[in-house]
Amino acid sequence: MYERDVELFNDSLERCSCEPEFLRRFYTLFLASSDTVAKKFERTDLRKQARLLKTSLYILMLASGESERVVHMDRLAKLHSRAELDIKPELYDLWLDRLVQAVKEFDPMFGMETETAWRRMLQPGIEFMKSRY
Ligand code: HEM
Repeated sequence: MYERDVELFNDSLERCSCEPEFLRRFYTLFLASSDTVAKKFERTDLRKQARLLKTSLYILMLASGESERVVHMDRLAKLHSRAELDIKPELYDLWLDRLVQAVKEFDPMFGMETETAWRRMLQPGIEFMKSRY
C-alpha cells in the first residue's frame, strides 16, 4: 500500500462524505446495476445501510495488511458468505465500479489518480471477502 494512495483515498472520501447524498447515490447506482443486487436489498433501510458502509470504508482502508484484514473483516466476510447473505464474488466488481462512479460524481477533484487510489485501497478487502465466499 502506498502512502500516496492512502492520502488520495482519504482526502477524496472526506470530500465525498461532506455530501449526505454521496452514499445514497452509490446505492441508487448499485441497485440499478443488477436485479440480483436490487433483490438482496429489498427489505433494507438504505439510510442506515449508507451509515454502516461509511464506517466499513474506513475499515477497508485500515485493513491493508493480511493480519488486520482477518481481525477486522472476518465478521463482515462471514455475513456476506454463501451461508448467510450469499453474495456471489462477481457482485463485488459491480459494487466497486458503482462506488467509483459515485465518487466521480461527488468529488470535485476527481481524476485518474484518485480513481486508482480508491481501487488500490479497496481491492485487498474485496479479494478477502470474495475468498471467504
Ligand atoms: C467490500 C464490499 C462490501 C462492504 C464493505 C460491505 C459492507 C456491508 C456492511 C457494513 C453491512 C452491514 C453489516 C451489519 O449489519 O452489521 C452490509 C450488509 C449487507 N450487504 Fe454488504 N458490503 C459489501 C459488498 C456487498 C455486495 C457486493 C453486496 C451485493 C448485493 C452486498 C449486500 C449486502 C446486504 C444484502 C446486506 C444486508 C442488508 C440488510 O441488513 O438488510 N454487500 N454490507
